[in-house]
Amino acid sequence: MLGKTQTLGDLISTDYLFKLIIKRFEVDQDDLQKSISTIRKENNVDLNFLTEILIAFEDINSFSSQKLAEFPIKLVVNYLRKTHHYYISKKLPELEQTIYHLKQKNNNPTVQVLLHFFNDYKRSLLEHIEVEENELFPYVLFLDYASSEKTDKVEAYYKEFGNISIETFMMEHDHEHETRLKEIINYLAAREKNLNDQLSFKVLLTQFQALNKDLRVHEKLEEDVLLPKAQLLEKLLQA
Ligand SMILES: [Fe+2]
Ligand SMILES: [Fe+2]
Repeated sequence: MLGKTQTLGDLISTDYLFKLIIKRFEVDQDDLQKSISTIRKENNVDLNFLTEILIAFEDINSFSSQKLAEFPIKLVVNYLRKTHHYYISKKLPELEQTIYHLKQKNNNPTVQVLLHFFNDYKRSLLEHIEVEENELFPYVLFLDYASSEKTDKVEAYYKEFGNISIETFMMEHDHEHETRLKEIINYLAAREKNLNDQLSFKVLLTQFQALNKDLRVHEKLEEDVLLPKAQLLEKLLQA
């Protein structure tokens, strides 16, 4: 659990995943010296959001949709975009490289199947991200802008982008890539003995598990925080 006297720096040093997460925020040296209880008392929106995200990473059952919904939409979208960028630019290439290493030493059917699973998984994750980046986030940011600026451009937006609605995004926000990721993890865990290069294998399993943990928080933030918040704004604008 997050200790009250613990500093942000101490907390981050406990888990390598935390070190990756803070890169998605503007955190300086002074912030790292602050205790978690001080951060909670201060009115620093970014740091409070970071703390809530770390709590969710530590234990997904502590994910508080209620608390996270209090943060501005722009902040949530910014975090989600940085996370997408991390998956595309770092995580997927890193996984690809480890699979390549495994293939060099174990060119057996297990690695061939794994490669097939991975390519399928990568395709579905990239498609999922593309829809969010190109359709969902611009619409959500527009709703946020329109409600704060009290603009009358709502109808013009629908005219330009068609019959777009948060309800459709909610229905289409599928978990196909999550299911595929779990399948890969189970497949790997069941075939550990087939692979001679135990080190690369363990690295790969750890990398997939870290991505799974990251994605769980990410998707929950979209489904339980961003989409309901956006739907509320949409209703108010259309009223
Ligand atoms: Fe996403
Ligand atoms: Fe998503």
